[in-house]
Amino acid sequence: MTMSEEKLQIEICPSILPADFSRLGAELETLEEAGADRIHWDIMDGNFVPNLTVGPDTVASCRKNVSLPFEAHLMVEDPDLLSPMFIEAGCDLIMVHVESVRHLDRTLNVILSSGAKAGVTLNPSTPIESISNVLHLVDQVLIMSVNPGFGGQKYLSSQEIKITRLKNMIDEQELSVNIEIDGGINENTISQATHAGANVFVAGSAIFNHPDGPAKAIHNLRKIASSA
Ligand code: DX5
Ligand code: ZN
Repeated sequence: MTMSEEKLQIEICPSILPADFSRLGAELETLEEAGADRIHWDIMDGNFVPNLTVGPDTVASCRKNVSLPFEAHLMVEDPDLLSPMFIEAGCDLIMVHVESVRHLDRTLNVILSSGAKAGVTLNPSTPIESISNVLHLVDQVLIMSVNPGFGGQKYLSSQEIKITRLKNMIDEQELSVNIEIDGGINENTISQATHAGANVFVAGSAIFNHPDGPAKAIHNLRKIASSA
């Protein structure tokens, strides 16, 4: 079986955006107990996106609360400045928006040289061709299925064809790269996102607002994706 034929594991990654920021450590412990695979830190600087969230000190203060991997979704104007800080804070995977850097290959190599994993993120309007020459450097490609900045938005099904084309690009290069999707993922949309080729799923409102709690939400999302 070639690298590209191996079935990548399904992972459910809660976004911290809807969390109660006055008790973030406890919220992460609840997500770990609920069966989350990773924590998705939505880092927003108020410039790259019209919203502002947390910095590396907040991430560092929560590192001791859980043993889950931390991934940083950097929605910032200067990821070259901030990446080292979030790695130092305990993030295992740094995801850089293609739209926010001038020298993407160098940015990713600097992240890798620190021992962290690297990923690239594409906004809905950004073509996958923009990352075809750096796929060999990344552990994951994040496809935004909303325009970044806020949770609770409507899922953009237009991104599914892009995910399928990305999967074909990865297979052609015989690589093993996770395809993550982020934005509007819930029990009604995760099946079609899986069919398109995604295997890692970020969810914020679908987990935090589930009437039966985060464990049921994560269980249902994983069950639907696994049987898609
Ligand atoms: C949006 C963030 C997403 C968002 C997901 O800019 O990157 O991670 O918080 O929230 P939901 O799952 O509610 O769309
Ligand atoms: Zn995100």
